[in-house]
Amino acid sequence: YTITVDPSARGAEIDDTMYGVFFEDINRAADGGLYAELVQNRSFEYSTADNGSYTPLTSWTVDGTAEVVDDDGRLNDRNRNYLSLAAGSSVANAGYNTGIRVEAGKRYDFSVWARTPGRGTLTVALRDAAGTLASTRQVAVRGDWTKYTATFTATRTSNRGRLAVGTTTDAALDMVSLFPRDTYRNQPNGLRRDLAEKIEALDPAFVRFPGGCLVNTGSMEDYSESSGWQRKRSYQWKDTIGPVEERATNANFWGYNQSYGLGYYEYFRFAEDIGAMPLPVVPALVTGCGQNRATDDEALLQRHIQDTLDLIEFANGPATSTWGKVRAEMGHPRPFRLTHLAVGNEENLPDAFFARFQRFRAAIEAEYPDITVVSNSGPDDTGTTFDRLWQLNRDTGVEMVDEHYYNSPQWFLQNNDRYDDYDRGGPQVFLGEYASQGNAFKNALAEAAFMTGLERNADVVKLASYAPLLANEDYVQWRPDMIWFNNRASWGSANYEVQKLFMTNVGDRVVPSTATTTPDVSGPITGAVGLSTWATSAAYDDVRVTAADGATLLTDDFSGDASRWTHTGTGSWTVRDGEYVQTDTAAENTMVTAGDPAWHDYDLHVRATKKSGN
Ligand code: AHR
Repeated sequence: YTITVDPSARGAEIDDTMYGVFFEDINRAADGGLYAELVQNRSFEYSTADNGSYTPLTSWTVDGTAEVVDDDGRLNDRNRNYLSLAAGSSVANAGYNTGIRVEAGKRYDFSVWARTPGRGTLTVALRDAAGTLASTRQVAVRGDWTKYTATFTATRTSNRGRLAVGTTTDAALDMVSLFPRDTYRNQPNGLRRDLAEKIEALDPAFVRFPGGCLVNTGSMEDYSESSGWQRKRSYQWKDTIGPVEERATNANFWGYNQSYGLGYYEYFRFAEDIGAMPLPVVPALVTGCGQNRATDDEALLQRHIQDTLDLIEFANGPATSTWGKVRAEMGHPRPFRLTHLAVGNEENLPDAFFARFQRFRAAIEAEYPDITVVSNSGPDDTGTTFDRLWQLNRDTGVEMVDEHYYNSPQWFLQNNDRYDDYDRGGPQVFLGEYASQGNAFKNALAEAAFMTGLERNADVVKLASYAPLLANEDYVQWRPDMIWFNNRASWGSANYEVQKLFMTNVGDRVVPSTATTTPDVSGPITGAVGLSTWATSAAYDDVRVTAADGATLLTDDFSGDASRWTHTGTGSWTVRDGEYVQTDTAAENTMVTAGDPAWHDYDLHVRATKKSGN
């Protein structure tokens, strides 16, 4: 190869805002993830409408008599269920993953809303199977709904903690909460420090949120303004602000319940803290993501358009404006400096979506001409760049289009030139979601190669974010993901390292280069790269993978769980005697760590017995 670089030639200017992150509450990225709350189902609102396996007591165990009630004695209209706990009884919460994680010496803030007929005492304990994890607290309670608090200092570290609340009197309980004092930037109602800091370390220029497919659906039905599916509230920003006990919970597109404890105020605050511009996505009332429905309710559509204008006022308005005042009362008098806002996500009905998008766009541009209103290009734009929605976007002079694709690493290598011939007179590109299918090093490498193509075309590709960002390893709806975690640890994938490399080294402009030849990327990417192992069971009888220190693969985190590994090819692996063993005769099999905690640390060994004749 000869690569020729002409330092005096000028390629595209690269905006500082080129790379950001896309946060969606998928894989328990919010509750049980970035949102630092340690109690699961704190307000007893889990419902079978949100997930067939849920009950209002999911994650709770009862000792004695307790019942979840929805009646006039409720805490408020948006937090309808509460726990009726009989005198002498107690309940315990199991948190997420293996339980509530506490660290010796660290402080934890407990709070609960309680209503009792007379005086009584709540006994609040943190413990695991081995005993107490902190001194037990006695909380005196009396009378109508009141918020009570207590603080623990953990005396032991545990990943399997339980928060138990007992009562000496009949008591109604709601919003049973436990937060680590040590949140990101020590903020109240804050974020899990390790996850927030891993995102911050990417130095993102923007945060797209809250979805994704999540924006379009929900189960909550407390508005009487519409009927049928339209009555179920999608992800709407006004539901997610204000005191947390007044935020109704809602079904999440990804099959679980979301508390909205991490809501629009917290998203804006986080974006500001990490120096990123906020980029919210609002539902267009055309349900994308395979659902093919568009609202025919004019009043509902009008309300959503007004809500979007109110959102801009909430973010940017003076503290004296209606919604700016709400922001100020929540603790942020200064504006959040919103400049971009997206309407809709992966819309399946191009014409129906676009008609409604134009209504949002016209209303926003009339009142806020400086806001960039981002459209989208449908579910997946890997086939053609001139599909119907792109055409509508071009024809009407839309400023920016959000497009998404998830493809093989090979596709990413083969499409490095995707934007070379893009129409420079058309909409700018926001590559809001992309990933090659895997967390192996080869995937990260293919993405890195592709990103050089994004930068070469930085005059038209203005924003780009890998997706999804976060995954709790015990609640996975989608893989690969950039950052993995459980209740006690988090770790970046190889893809994370590539993103970090690019995001923390954004150039000012492209220096054009030419090469005498380009690599042949027509065939499959095979072979072992990085920590991946590769074995051909046509040639080997018995392929085993062990960690160098033998025991490491069978720690608490790993035992028996072959699903932590992803395999490409047709073979399968099982865990036997501390080793991962290939169990069939697939011709070729690549086994890679799927975001396991030791991506950086394991020194894996492969042992294979050659078949006779090979
Ligand atoms: O990133 C996961 C999902 O992929 C998003 O919710 C959606 O927009 C896309 O289909």
